[in-house]
Amino acid sequence: MASSEEVTLNGLATKIAELADTLTKTLKENNVPLCTFDVDSPVSYDSPSPDIYMQRQTLIQTCMDLIYLAQGPRESIFNYAHSAMPDAACLNVLNYFNFWDAVPLDGTASYADIAKHTNLPEEVVKRFVRHASTLRIFEETEPGRSASRVKHSFRSAPLARSKGLRALLTTTLELSGGPLMALHFALERYSQGKPALPKNIDETAFALLYSGGQFGKFKNTWEMLENDGEGEKKGWRQREFTVFMDFLKEIFGLEGVVLNAYDWSALGKAKVVDIGGSAGHDAFTLAKKFSDLELVVQDLPQVAPVFEQNLPSDLASRVSFMAHDMFQPQPVEADVYLLKLILHDWPDEEAVKLLRAQIPALKPGARVIFIEYVGAEEDSEDANQLPRIVRGMGSATDLRVMALFNNRERPVSAWKEIFKAADERFDVTSVKSNAVAFYAVVEAVWRG
Ligand SMILES: C[S@@+](CC[C@H](N)C(=O)[O-])C[C@H]1O[C@@H](n2cnc3c(N)ncnc32)[C@H](O)[C@@H]1O
Repeated sequence: MASSEEVTLNGLATKIAELADTLTKTLKENNVPLCTFDVDSPVSYDSPSPDIYMQRQTLIQTCMDLIYLAQGPRESIFNYAHSAMPDAACLNVLNYFNFWDAVPLDGTASYADIAKHTNLPEEVVKRFVRHASTLRIFEETEPGRSASRVKHSFRSAPLARSKGLRALLTTTLELSGGPLMALHFALERYSQGKPALPKNIDETAFALLYSGGQFGKFKNTWEMLENDGEGEKKGWRQREFTVFMDFLKEIFGLEGVVLNAYDWSALGKAKVVDIGGSAGHDAFTLAKKFSDLELVVQDLPQVAPVFEQNLPSDLASRVSFMAHDMFQPQPVEADVYLLKLILHDWPDEEAVKLLRAQIPALKPGARVIFIEYVGAEEDSEDANQLPRIVRGMGSATDLRVMALFNNRERPVSAWKEIFKAADERFDVTSVKSNAVAFYAVVEAVWRG
């Protein structure tokens, strides 16, 4: 980007036109269907190309700059402060009460229909839908008129079609929203005047909000996922979370990361334990591709019924589920232990405990493999070359894991340190990561 004196409304608008032109050409050359404002628009730019991803991010960032400049600094802050929370609360309410299924994809619904479906007062429904429609989420057939009906828009329709996208909102907005807004209280109480965040998971913004009784009595997020709800509803959060994890794999193209994390075929007949493996989606991927592997998925008890429901019958002889608390001594002797997206949910103290809990089962030569989010390395040139909004995706996750777990998005060096802190006999033999991919694969061999 040119120096700030040269950045003008016209300069940015010209740049946007050029970037949009280049992107459109690249998409067409690569046969990637273009998104539209139509209700049947493709839900995303379906391409694994890092080039297309970066072109889109640069365009989006330049559009954001144009908006900031058109608003001016004061209005840009005012507008953000004014709308950010109502926008997020609105999306959260629509998702929590499932407004998505209240409106047919190929027709319209009245406000009374939506009120009936959601069991909310019609007047309240109308206020949320009207705000949402300003964000292109739903559309009124006659905007502002009491007789107006509601139809899906290009942003609401994917939510009616995808359980995964809905589960993503449940985790990122509903579960994390309260703790994120309570972060200032947690920092004031536990961190102000101290050199660092508390090193344990009990003194988080999450715990401040959800452990006191008013909104539940849960020490940490996982306890809430397992225990919230009564009767048939018990475990609903955990069930929703398994859908979210499966969906994350789809949107980040993680299937390839799992398949390439290790030379699985070189293992021959071998046993793999997927620690905190959710309802088995990664184990199924590995078992389908590598017929010599036997996999044990370990997770919390509420995950078991979802696993049983999802287990393909042709894999039933090789993939099994074991309810097991990963902080307790590992009971299964295996060749590889996979920890995918586990330790970023735990501060160092617990991460080290978790690794040590595996030691009783480790035979010499056994491997432990992390597949993890990777944060920016301090003073790294790589990270600064990424567009601001790409860095923002990483730093937003970083603040979310602070609110929920008192953790941070660890850079690669810290992932290696975790092994070392757990036991010197873990020998880190391979680290694969790059600044654009949000993931690193770190492999250690047990030299015990
Ligand atoms: C972020 S998810 C990762 C799931 C899966 N590895 C994946 O990548 O899709 C973390 C998982 O850890 C599980 N978990 C949390 N605490 C646990 C515990 N004490 N013992 C076993 N599993 C636990 C959760 O239920 C959840 O499935």
